Amino acid sequence: MAKEVKTIGVLTSGGDAPGMNAAIRAVVRTAINKGLKVKGIMRGYAGLLQEEIVDMESTSVADIIHRGGTILYTARCQEFVTAEGQKKGAEICRKHGIDGIVVIGGDGSFRGAGKLSALGINTIGLPGTIDLDIACTDYTIGFDTAVNTAMEAIDKVRDTSTSHERCSVIEVMGRNAGYIALWCGIANGAEDILLPERYDGNEQALINRIIENRKRGKRHHIIINAEGIGHSASMAKRIEAATGIETRATILGHMQRGGTPTCKDRVYASIMGAKAVELLAEGKSNRVVAYKHGEYVDFDIQEALNMKKDIDESQYMISKMLVR
Ligand code: ADP
Ligand code: F6P
Repeated sequence: MAKEVKTIGVLTSGGDAPGMNAAIRAVVRTAINKGLKVKGIMRGYAGLLQEEIVDMESTSVADIIHRGGTILYTARCQEFVTAEGQKKGAEICRKHGIDGIVVIGGDGSFRGAGKLSALGINTIGLPGTIDLDIACTDYTIGFDTAVNTAMEAIDKVRDTSTSHERCSVIEVMGRNAGYIALWCGIANGAEDILLPERYDGNEQALINRIIENRKRGKRHHIIINAEGIGHSASMAKRIEAATGIETRATILGHMQRGGTPTCKDRVYASIMGAKAVELLAEGKSNRVVAYKHGEYVDFDIQEALNMKKDIDESQYMISKMLVR
């Protein structure tokens, strides 16, 4: 029989992402609409273990839908990776009357959510990461804002790169995944896109393409380098030495994680937040909300964590074809 949930906790965990506030707002207001109580857990699992738990009302989430970051703050917490930490977390939930939790974060956060579920606290995960690296879903909260932010920044670097007839190595985030790099590469018309999933490390071939392009009259050469490859500064030095073309490295960094969320991130995060509460209200647990093939769906957490994801090959081929 489904367990009745009366009080829901919500937390954000791992790297923050624009749109997390929209998700929190949707969780709080959907729960209140259903007559449930809501508690905000500050600083992810770290705050749970420190009992940083606050009551949330409808007004607690007023005026936040347009704000980047997360009003609940976020953290990474080593103690929660241990069995003792997880047991303590579940006990604290019970002490505060929390019988359901919405965890907004990435794969690591979902692992924690799965553990809480096994310990009797109904849990639902929402995919929140700019990296788009969660296998069960085609969309993650924050990716759309991050790629738009990065795209605008790269346009600016391109202007000055063209004026100075330089080569630019621009490094974007994504941890081990190349989704931000690929999307920006296409959107910015980059001459080269280096993805951890595809790059063979053949820098000589890259250098040859830069020289050929210059001979063909190209005024700049933009290389989008994914964080998972990294070493942009040393790469730029080697390129300059080998080509004789002035080369600069720009690491976009954490600016990609901030800023006002796009319309898409606000809307998708709102729908996912509402869905998470509906699942909890139905007595469901150990589920992840996802967006797959144009629909909002949910998966078992372990099943979701076991799924594999790769760069879309046709998207990658098109990105290469369009700059030649
Ligand atoms: P993300 O959720 O963005 O993937 P992390 O991988 O840093 O970010 O994970 C966020 C937090 O989730 C970790 O700091 C830890 O508290 C928790 N976590 C990660 N892996 C596990 C695990 N195997 N078991 C329990 N909790 C975990
Ligand atoms: O997972 C989001 C992300 O921004 C990655 O793209 C990046 O590798 C990492 O987090 C950076 O983490 P931190 O904020 O701890 O430097």
